[in-house]
Amino acid sequence: MCGIVGYVGNRPVVDLLIQGLRHLEYRGYDSAGVAFFRDGIIEIEKSEGRLVHVEKLLAESSKVFQGSKCGIGHTRWATHGKPTTQNAHPHRTGHVVLVHNGIIENYQEVRKQILERGHRPLSETDSELFGFLVLEEMNRGLGLRESVRKSFLKIRGSCTMVVMSEKEPGVVVGVRNGTPLVAANDPLGGGVFASDAQGLLHVSKNVVFLEHGDLAEISEKGLEVFDLKTGKTIQRNATLLDWSVEQLDKQGHAHYMLKEIYEQPSSLMDTLNALVERSNGIPFSLAHQPAVKLIENARDIHIVACGTSWHAALLAKYWMEKWARIPVNVELASEFRYRDPVVGKSSIIIGLAQSGETADTLAVIRKARAAGIPTVGITNIRGSTISREADAVLYMAAGPEVGVAATKTFTAQLMTLLVLTGHLAVKNSQAHPDDQVQGIQKLFEQVIQMPHLLADYLEAGKLAKDTKKAARALKDSRGFFFIGRGFSFPIALEGALKLKEIAYIHAEGYAGGELKHGPIAMIDQEMTVVVLAPLDIWREKTVSNLEEVKARGARILGIGDASDLVLQSLCDHWIALPPGLDKIDSSLFPLALTPVVQLLSYEIALLKGTDVDKPRNLAKSVTVE
Ligand code: M6R
Repeated sequence: MCGIVGYVGNRPVVDLLIQGLRHLEYRGYDSAGVAFFRDGIIEIEKSEGRLVHVEKLLAESSKVFQGSKCGIGHTRWATHGKPTTQNAHPHRTGHVVLVHNGIIENYQEVRKQILERGHRPLSETDSELFGFLVLEEMNRGLGLRESVRKSFLKIRGSCTMVVMSEKEPGVVVGVRNGTPLVAANDPLGGGVFASDAQGLLHVSKNVVFLEHGDLAEISEKGLEVFDLKTGKTIQRNATLLDWSVEQLDKQGHAHYMLKEIYEQPSSLMDTLNALVERSNGIPFSLAHQPAVKLIENARDIHIVACGTSWHAALLAKYWMEKWARIPVNVELASEFRYRDPVVGKSSIIIGLAQSGETADTLAVIRKARAAGIPTVGITNIRGSTISREADAVLYMAAGPEVGVAATKTFTAQLMTLLVLTGHLAVKNSQAHPDDQVQGIQKLFEQVIQMPHLLADYLEAGKLAKDTKKAARALKDSRGFFFIGRGFSFPIALEGALKLKEIAYIHAEGYAGGELKHGPIAMIDQEMTVVVLAPLDIWREKTVSNLEEVKARGARILGIGDASDLVLQSLCDHWIALPPGLDKIDSSLFPLALTPVVQLLSYEIALLKGTDVDKPRNLAKSVTVE
């Protein structure tokens, strides 16, 4: 986790670092700092808490940094050592200053050796130790790049280091070993490093996704890449990204999360357009991507994921088994990686991760590849680790998501999995009765309509009003259950996760049928049950569950079809789904239910006064286990 930026060039470095860090703060935000050259000396400003504290320090500082053109910055998610200013990065060791993301696994051993050699680290971090190793190499007469290389070979673990030294002003060296690091040449001269493309888009859209085991240097000559093991020059090509810096701004919304909820109709459409060839008249015609071929050839599908992505995967199981008649196993990556699942060379393992960096999901991909089992990554981030380590990749096109709570990447995952479902269903259509084939065609037409229907729903403003009203009435509930059946069940799980994540309220999602098996014991007047009961084959059963919890005093917030007056009359609070949804196949109802539960959590979090975009203890990419 943690965000890193490094720059050498002709632009004022401190502003550039701060701007980059603002776009990376979602990766960790318990402390932050920058280091920059001033008259041959490296100055450091760092602080516990958010980046804004560092900005304040800089504003109050008497240090002149406007002319500085070389520096590094960091925003931290603590692993070793508390989130204090002392432990914040950058760390200085003599003339060496560094920032780090990831974990040095042989940290104890390195620390012991360093202490034995008479060094005294000031922080509790594993990161600072690396500075001593570099310092020792430089004291032996090696240059910065070679010292970083040699030092890196002495540590173990998945990490990124970005280092500079007062002995070599105008040079920044970075290593990518597991955790991400991207780089670019600055068109105005020099080069830039960042943990991901969001951190350097303000410099260039031509991004080099460094590979595992790359050592890179930026200087006034631009970017140069070397092999970490041998030190020999290697060639890496840049990818031109279609993301823009404007997409990284809030564009008038109070929070990124709100902006991203409202962007869902367009990110759904973008994802659909990116994946589907629409001119040939075949429904769900996915371009001939290697990932699609691998999935088509598989006898059974295993989707591994974490958190919100796992909820998307769960819904995909319902879809794929219904429409494509393929057995699908969905599992938490953290469980799958440590057990002995029944998978083989005719299976496919799909790692679903919006960030493409989730440690557990990557571990499954690596293990599968080592066993010769085909793998596919589905991600929103080009050049992410999963996109390079899986055998093949499918990209969704949600655009940058800055809010830590996944919103538009969730629905973009749903769209990706939905078109994949449709594609497999068409492929297997010989095995289907005629009405199923017609059903697939109809489903495709409705998938195209969904973004428009959602845009109207969100823009009409009624949903915003209804969720605000419900939030005001229910915010003080002791806890929330979200219940749903069938296609609504994964959305019940997602609704509960969103509420926990951003409003810090205890919430659980249940399949309606599970209530009687224990959870109903929790129900009393202080509990709210959010009932997801659109007009589908499960509605009657869900309404029975509603009656059961209502009889035990729970407050009921119903989310159902706009025409369902009977359901509405049973609920204390009510949010209607988009008008016209009753004409759409129930497989697509989750796309309409999702913004409702997202907005509900958002509104409750606002009333609770939490930091919606950066909820406590969380980071957007969970790159450590
Ligand atoms: O990048 P990934 O999709 O693999 O991330 C998985 C989870 O960490 C993520 O979905 C997390 O649960 C989000 N914060 C949910 O909003």
